[in-house]
Amino acid sequence: MSNLVRFGVSLEDDLLNKFDRHIKRHKYTNRSEAIRDLIREELIKEEWTENKEVTGAITIVYDHHARELVNKVMDIQHDYHDSILSTQHIHLDHHNCFEIIVTRGKATEIEKLFMKLKSLKSVKHAGFMMATKGKDLP
Ligand code: NI
Repeated sequence: MSNLVRFGVSLEDDLLNKFDRHIKRHKYTNRSEAIRDLIREELIKEEWTENKEVTGAITIVYDHHARELVNKVMDIQHDYHDSILSTQHIHLDHHNCFEIIVTRGKATEIEKLFMKLKSLKSVKHAGFMMATKGKDLP
């Protein structure tokens, strides 16, 4: 456990008022916890831009009746098997499928995987969430 260090921050009052409203909306109990999260967000973005080992989640929604689509989705996932930890497939209704692909690997590989799935014709939606392995993040 690292030591707690206090530091002062100077801000314009308008900016602080906006930040306090943000804190309220996001249910933080104090400014410190909100600032910690903002700092972590930035550090996680840096892990991605510096192509570190990261984790993330990709979601896709598609109609499995679309010609050849299921095979293409499968082929792409096999090509990226090193970066995929698990895939969960949910049948939303008679036509639509929802897949959650949990990834771990080099940031650029995961981004490439996402772009390939997203650009497939007949994929109705593709979502992407950057996360961290957490090891280098206090
Ligand atoms: Ni399905």
